[in-house]
Amino acid sequence: MSEPRGRILLVEDTPTQAEVAKALLVDLGHEVRHAETGTRGLAMALDWLPDAILVDLQLPDFSGFELMRKLRAEGSEAACIVITANASVNTAVEAMREGAMDFIVKPYGRARLKVTLDNALEKRALKAELTAVKQQLNRGRFFGFVGGSPAMQAVYRTIESVAPSRANVFVTGESGTGKELVADAIHKASPRARGPFVALNCAAIPRDLLESEIFGHVKGAFTGATDNRAGAAKQAEGGTFFLDEIGEMPLEMQVKLLRFLQTGSFQPVGAARPEKADVRIVSATNRDPLAEVEAGRFREDLYYRLYVVPIELPPLRERGDDVLVIARHFLAQFSKEEGRRFRGFSREAEAAVIAYPWPGNVRQLQNAMRNVVVLHDADMVEVAMLPPMLLRGARPVGSVSSTPAPNPVAAPREAPPQAVHWEPQALPASPSPPPAPSPPAIEPLAAMEKRMILAALDQTGQDVPRAAALLEVNPSTIYRKLAAWRAAH
Ligand SMILES: Nc1ncnc2c1ncn2[C@@H]1O[C@H](COP(=O)(O)OP(=O)(O)OP(=O)(O)O)[C@@H](O)[C@H]1O
Ligand SMILES: [Mg+2]
Repeated sequence: MSEPRGRILLVEDTPTQAEVAKALLVDLGHEVRHAETGTRGLAMALDWLPDAILVDLQLPDFSGFELMRKLRAEGSEAACIVITANASVNTAVEAMREGAMDFIVKPYGRARLKVTLDNALEKRALKAELTAVKQQLNRGRFFGFVGGSPAMQAVYRTIESVAPSRANVFVTGESGTGKELVADAIHKASPRARGPFVALNCAAIPRDLLESEIFGHVKGAFTGATDNRAGAAKQAEGGTFFLDEIGEMPLEMQVKLLRFLQTGSFQPVGAARPEKADVRIVSATNRDPLAEVEAGRFREDLYYRLYVVPIELPPLRERGDDVLVIARHFLAQFSKEEGRRFRGFSREAEAAVIAYPWPGNVRQLQNAMRNVVVLHDADMVEVAMLPPMLLRGARPVGSVSSTPAPNPVAAPREAPPQAVHWEPQALPASPSPPPAPSPPAIEPLAAMEKRMILAALDQTGQDVPRAAALLEVNPSTIYRKLAAWRAAH
């Protein structure tokens, strides 16, 4: 049997007329339900969600008009068609005013009923489609993302389509474009949302520790392995495993990851038996993955395993008005956090924000807005408050350095704006030291070092590579220190 063409609710109290109408509707291929009173009709409409409702005007409890009013008040989206014995213009006008899509005068035949219902169902389908399209086009927010540019709408759509599956996703994009936000959105939009989301930054972990970080180890597997420890893959069981900066993974580790992807099982360091983990893998890199494969730094077989669904994040400078929308979003957020009264940007400031190419992308914009808010307070952001970089005009975008410069927020609040070293992390930076805080009383060098490292970690939201860049040391140095402090406890 073919699908019924529509779900039609008939609200009609005269039994003979109801029987005729039902027979016609069934004959036209519709699924039909029948109510004899307004009250019953209302309840069925809200419960069964019909596509169209045929409403007799004279009902025992209240009029058909009243029923339509109540339906509208309850948010029913069904198309209402009035059936009336009164063919006057007044009735027709009132029916339309009450929200009827059409009306039919009794007695009516099969052909009239068919045309009216076909029209109503088609209009309704178009309306639903239009609403869906509008919703897609107007999405200015999507999980953690702000911005509704066409380029980002495409990203949102891909995330939405891929999320329900188990497919591995490979996210590429310049630094600061939101790759981690993609991983997070995929997780949250997926059936694994209730499971864990585990992120592991391959660049942040010393080579010799990476295997045990990912796959865990057993007690005694190596010096310092004082206990059995589950790795990130196991911790992500039932959830999503985000492998960030996958391009930094050493080749020997890539082999082990490939085996895990092929079999679903892995061997913790020092373990006799393999273990299994059910995870969905999202990986990210800001390198060109194919170039890495060609250069022999990334295994081709692993690349194809991971690169099932690619998502490429456009740089901020290709997102049109999103730059301003995101700038306003951060301005409002930071103003609230810092107790400032900023409400927007002056025309010139807006123009400067739009004209700047933002080579450090959203993160750079975020830092710039934080900087403005921390150092100033006014109703409007004026050009003079913007980091000087913006006013120096466009920079060559291709030449990026991986050395982040000191975070602007490191500047003490009372520092005059000129003294703040504002340098986006992705620019060819000549890192100058952050403004030196006045030295406290002399303390042991090791204690001071620990304090500085912890402060850098705090300031970067525990982001070891970024903290390392601020301190101008190798990330593995920080990892070793952290491990040593943990062991000392
Ligand atoms: N469209 C956006 N709207 C709002 N915030 C965003 C958006 N894109 C990124 N962000 C924010 O910008 C910062 C950088 O994003 P994220 O860490 O995801 O970038 P990334 O591509 O992983 O960068 P990297 O390559 O340096 O690791 C984060 O604080 C993130 O929340
Ligand atoms: Mg990242």
